[in-house]
Amino acid sequence: MTPTSPLKVAVGGAQPYSIAIGPGVLGQGAALAAHVRGRHVLLLSDSEVAPLYLDTLRTCLLAARPDLEIGQYVLQAGEASKTLQEFANVIQALAALGATRDACVFALGGGVVGDLGGFAAACWMRGVDCVQLPTSLLAMVDSSVGGKTAVDIPAGKNLVGAFHPPRAVFADTSVLATLPPRELRAGLAEVVKYGALGDAGFLAWLEQHAEALLAGDQAALAEAIACSCTHKAAIVERDPLEKGERALLNLGHTFGHAIETEQGYSAPGRDALNHGEAVAVGMVLAAALSARLGLADAADAQRLQQLLLRLQLPVRIPAGLDPQALLARMRLDKKNVAGQLRLVLWRGVGRAEVISGVDEADVLAVLAAG
Ligand code: GLY
Repeated sequence: MTPTSPLKVAVGGAQPYSIAIGPGVLGQGAALAAHVRGRHVLLLSDSEVAPLYLDTLRTCLLAARPDLEIGQYVLQAGEASKTLQEFANVIQALAALGATRDACVFALGGGVVGDLGGFAAACWMRGVDCVQLPTSLLAMVDSSVGGKTAVDIPAGKNLVGAFHPPRAVFADTSVLATLPPRELRAGLAEVVKYGALGDAGFLAWLEQHAEALLAGDQAALAEAIACSCTHKAAIVERDPLEKGERALLNLGHTFGHAIETEQGYSAPGRDALNHGEAVAVGMVLAAALSARLGLADAADAQRLQQLLLRLQLPVRIPAGLDPQALLARMRLDKKNVAGQLRLVLWRGVGRAEVISGVDEADVLAVLAAG
């Protein structure tokens, strides 16, 4: 992890913070420690990430601030750990550390660690600082930014949580070298989402750099992450609590969540789609539905599909999932109001919109063709 000049994205609003992106930012002990207001630090990570980076992080922090009291808690890797029980265990770790109100949780890992660490930080003593250290591309471009924190309960994913913006985010692109290629591709689906929903120019850039991104090119990845975070930052700044515009970040997600839920969240089989893959399929379905409703040109849906295929992402619903069952799942989406489907669709590349009252027959036709 050689320190270089990271790219910086500023997130404004009531609690502004910055996102540092680049190879080696996890080794910048002084920059990391600058966000610790008191003495107590809890390092939270998972069983896959901790063996790779946790000791280095602790050493860097202590080199910059020898007075720190650092505790740690390591979860079993995987969505199955995003539970109220693990939340209680993290709170217990903060209690054992004697963490005071100026404590800081460092969440080192993917979305599960970030969501759980952020939620524990939101609740301990009614709110302490959290620094997000995302180690998956998906977490770098989505869950680490914007302050959504949560755990899952049997009734559904992310049903218990809080908005708690991080104090800072450090996205170390060099850690992506150890990310399984399938996870990298899943993150690229969320990157494509930002071009699709709000920036045709960024989508064109992604078309030009698809191979470099797939190959893990550091400069291309850093630029894609910075551009994605800039888009997300602008939206969450204007709508931090998802009262309106922030819903656009769910492009492809209503279809995607239906697929994820139908195939089983907690232990998807070997052939089941992961979150980013389900979002890729979901975006293609949203684009196809937009074309069917006459909102957008079919060529735009084709263009999106081509880019996702080049990024080696799936674009079809997995075999065996029943369109009627998927539609039933979509009826439960949190965006729906007054019993009507409310979906993020688009008026062509870069122009997403929330559309209410979508006819179920059209959705079903797209699901049956997908
Ligand atoms: N992941 C969508 C959002 O942060 O609003």
